[in-house]
Amino acid sequence: MYNIAIVGASGLVGGTFLKVLEERNLPIKNLYLFASTRSAGKKVIFKGKTLIIEELTEKSFDRKIDIALFSAGGDISKKFAPIANKKGVIVIDNSSAWRMDKSVPLIVPEVNSEEIFKNEGIIANPNCSTIQSVVPLKIIDDLYGIKRVIYSTYQAVSGSGIKGMEDLKRGLVGEEAKTYPHPIVNNCLPHIDSFLENGYTKEEEKMINETRKILNKKNLPITATCVRVPVLNGHSISINVELEKEVNLEELRDKFKEAKGIVFRDDIGNNIYPLATEATGTDEVYVGRLRKDFSIEKGLNLWVVADNIRKGAATNAVQIAEILMKKK
Ligand SMILES: NC(=O)c1ccc[n+]([C@@H]2O[C@H](COP(=O)([O-])OP(=O)(O)OC[C@H]3O[C@@H](n4cnc5c(N)ncnc54)[C@H](OP(=O)(O)O)[C@@H]3O)[C@@H](O)[C@H]2O)c1
Repeated sequence: MYNIAIVGASGLVGGTFLKVLEERNLPIKNLYLFASTRSAGKKVIFKGKTLIIEELTEKSFDRKIDIALFSAGGDISKKFAPIANKKGVIVIDNSSAWRMDKSVPLIVPEVNSEEIFKNEGIIANPNCSTIQSVVPLKIIDDLYGIKRVIYSTYQAVSGSGIKGMEDLKRGLVGEEAKTYPHPIVNNCLPHIDSFLENGYTKEEEKMINETRKILNKKNLPITATCVRVPVLNGHSISINVELEKEVNLEELRDKFKEAKGIVFRDDIGNNIYPLATEATGTDEVYVGRLRKDFSIEKGLNLWVVADNIRKGAATNAVQIAEILMKKK
């Protein structure tokens, strides 16, 4: 049995950690919940028991904790993950604070679970859009070799946490936007996270760098346009891939059908393709609209959808925790 902590327990990802830990019935002896002073004292039900959220302080890890799941933003992770490590706690971090650190494994269990044990201090969970993209990309790369990737994302407001969902709800009743710089209702905003000097956004940069790290292809040419759309939950991504070898669509369809963690939804005759409404509340990556890109010699298009709070955050981190527990 393990002692687990959740940092950011009152948030969207934190609340989903609680659900996923309960659903997957992890062997938990004690579960400790932390957030800021705003949520300290709030009650949460876990497996029928009432737990109280505590304020996160430098003393929070002065007790026996095996694994801490962090989802309280980059600044909190930067400050508190090393403090937790010093007390012997393994941190699985959802923020972007440690993802590109060379000593920190960046893990999607379906793709590179063998890397987990390279550092048992901090293990990073990738960005939500990256997680769902690399699951099918790894299969494509193993079969045909990826030469270039073009990402175009359609990201739900839940990706901005509770405040993003509130902005969409406010907009739907005619109130002004507070979270986004423009109304999200009736708009697609080509702007996720802040702009960089080169014209990209940080979200786009994260997808590019994290994909290269996870697929272990340092110089892979990748470009991305990340767009916030008025969808409550579930990110959709159009992925265009240039390949070394000609794709065999039949073979690839069969691989996707049997792949762990993928639901293959590709029956255009019956209007079946991946949808955010179907992916929401589930842990799989939905793949479909598979077709050759005839504008280049060896190209492929696909449409990939997942629940960004579950597989894009909480479920992926809990899967990492399960692998750590199995080893011990
Ligand atoms: N939403 C997604 O799709 C997604 C996907 C992948 C990764 N992530 C990452 O996960 C993290 C949380 O995202 P979210 O969507 O769950 O955000 P959220 O709903 O806004 O929740 C933020 C959480 O952080 C806590 N927090 C804020 N300041 C704190 C402080 N000073 N000390 C302790 N706790 C503090 C909040 O506690 P209070 O209630 O006390 O304020 C809350 O529990 C972010 O790093 C985000 O980038 C999110």
